Amino acid sequence: MSVSRRGFLRGTVLPFSGTVIAARGMEAYQANPAQDRSARSLVPPGVTEIRISSNENPLGPGKMVLDAILGKFPEANRYPFNSTPSDNALTAAIAAKFKVKPENIVLGGGSQELLKNAVRAFTTPSRGLVTGAPSFENCPGVAKKLGHPIAEIKVDSAFRLDVEAMIAAAKGAGLVFFNNPNNPTATVHGAKTVTDLVTRVRQSSPDTVILIDEAYHDYVTDPSYQSAVPLALEVPNVFVTRTFSKAYGMAGMRVGYAIGRKETMKPLEKLKMPYNISVFGIAAAMAALNDARHIDAERERNTKVRTFTRKTLDELGCKSADSQGNFLFVDVGRPAKDFREACAKQGVVIGRDFPPFEKTHVRISIGTMEEMQKAATVFRNVLRPISTSTGARLEEASWR
Ligand SMILES: Cc1ncc(COP(=O)(O)O)c(C=O)c1O
Repeated sequence: MSVSRRGFLRGTVLPFSGTVIAARGMEAYQANPAQDRSARSLVPPGVTEIRISSNENPLGPGKMVLDAILGKFPEANRYPFNSTPSDNALTAAIAAKFKVKPENIVLGGGSQELLKNAVRAFTTPSRGLVTGAPSFENCPGVAKKLGHPIAEIKVDSAFRLDVEAMIAAAKGAGLVFFNNPNNPTATVHGAKTVTDLVTRVRQSSPDTVILIDEAYHDYVTDPSYQSAVPLALEVPNVFVTRTFSKAYGMAGMRVGYAIGRKETMKPLEKLKMPYNISVFGIAAAMAALNDARHIDAERERNTKVRTFTRKTLDELGCKSADSQGNFLFVDVGRPAKDFREACAKQGVVIGRDFPPFEKTHVRISIGTMEEMQKAATVFRNVLRPISTSTGARLEEASWR
């Protein structure tokens, strides 16, 4: 089924009109590292920076992975198909983990390569992208560059992706980007809701492809959640992306993958960059797959620090959405830019703006417990009402 670009925007966008979408600039669709960088430049010289802006694992990978990376230096001269292990070995190892065939897996130079290629493969000037607002910006960023229409569906009052509205908007769309848990709001939908979304989109719009991004899968503690991988293997036009950048602590290694039925994977395979994973990334990912205990420990650690941080902010009057990731989406009641810059001046660097909540909400990644305790002091300072009559100075952070 095809719809015109105008029809897609006018007929299916529920909370946002086409005009509003068109009016939003490119910067709204990019994971804006410029905002992170400009905040980082405000950290005073000599102050140890606490970088909780990019949803990274603050501890990095485990010893097995580090040893694997270090062990690969003598093979830096080899292409990934000639190294030991090779890129095919990594594909096979991921396939074995899920008990599928290698043809069900496509590797990406970070999962962002796969997100980008999904937009290229599955959207057109008449079959647009459906995404949440706010959600991870990669897919709408690419659609915008290609001039393909974007239907942004504002999250619901609990900051969860609005499933009903996304199903309605999916009719005639090329691609639905469903981020579960959703970055930046950190909320998750349970397995039943995701299955329902897939079933109903398949019924109303069978040619629409559904990308379920599970970048934060390993951090989820909500028992209603289950990975959509089995669904992707069963149902045509559905696939899941995963990454080693988050709980695995390997954001600098750039390894992600997509998993789905062979025919769904084919367009992604075609668009893949040759030799897209380095020999270091391959070795690191192979070692990480054999270290499940590291992931369990990281989930436990993150949950503890997440609970502490959420409670601390709550006591400061700043509510956050239920978090199922390694970050919180927090109502600080003021523009994110002001809060971000004030925190950076005291050594704490938090996330970029997330329209349409950039006037009230910030995204705070979960660092180590020590980092979050120090960050809590800074949040307290920044959030404290300034007494205008006395011109009271903000308390110095005791940990400088
Ligand atoms: C939801 C989501 N998907 C994908 C990515 C990109 O991860 P990668 O490092 O694998 O490209 C991120 C990174 O922050 C993310 O938040």
